[in-house]
Amino acid sequence: MAKEIDIFYDVALKLTNQAGELIRSKVGVSLVADLKSCDIDLVTETDQAVEKLLMDGIGAEFPSHKFIGEETVASGGSCNLTDEPTWIIDPIDGTMNFVHAFPHSCISLALFIDKQPQIGIIYNPMLEQLFTARKGQGAFLNGKQIHASKEAVLAKALIMLENGTSRDPEKMKNLFINQQNIIPKIHGTRCLGSAALDMAMVALGCADAYFEFGIHVWDIAAGELLIKEAGGVVIDPSGGELDRFSRRVLCASTPQLAEQITANLVQFYPMPRD
Ligand code: IPD
Repeated sequence: MAKEIDIFYDVALKLTNQAGELIRSKVGVSLVADLKSCDIDLVTETDQAVEKLLMDGIGAEFPSHKFIGEETVASGGSCNLTDEPTWIIDPIDGTMNFVHAFPHSCISLALFIDKQPQIGIIYNPMLEQLFTARKGQGAFLNGKQIHASKEAVLAKALIMLENGTSRDPEKMKNLFINQQNIIPKIHGTRCLGSAALDMAMVALGCADAYFEFGIHVWDIAAGELLIKEAGGVVIDPSGGELDRFSRRVLCASTPQLAEQITANLVQFYPMPRD
């Protein structure tokens, strides 16, 4: 199986580069094709084109592989993870950034086999940052190995926080309460506008944690393996095991830091689940 995964990885990387070229050529000029859950949940023609490029390319090489793709699910496709090799794709994570030409958007692509992550690729084509991970082989940025920080003290942590793409009043209330709880207790917060890139920053060790209620499985699928391979933890914000379809995530450089964040969070359970 290891050899096969190497082949899957090479094909995925080649397609990711092609998709990256497409994204670069459309930054700031791609039209918003639709609004999804609300007026800040955008999809552009390029999101759709990139998802098609990746799915067609992978499907042509490996016809039995399954897919969970953000835009396919948005138009009624399946969001079901089985034991079969399944690619989980966010064609452009950070679509709002992409529309504004703010250079922090990425392709997020993960392969799961037997429901476990085997490959994680996060690629920001604007800044040419390619984050890669394969199970048991470490995490890398542009080919150089990366590690999560060793930060274990909440007061010294730099935490990635997102406002999300929902206008749901209960969700926003929870967001503000948690910001009020956490911000006075830490070094600072940062926001890249892309869940996958936030996770990449934790894997890179330049941020110490990230949590969000309301994300989707395609936002976190590649980042999960990247952070774990970099030595960090990816769990449920209540402290238990990650439930990938629950739309909740907490990532941290160390279990000790994750525990202190959990103790300060008011929990929220977004509906519907993925
Ligand atoms: C969104 C971004 C955003 C995060 C949202 C995601 P999209 O993904 O990652 O930063 O806060 O929760 O849904 O819509 O740009 O693919």
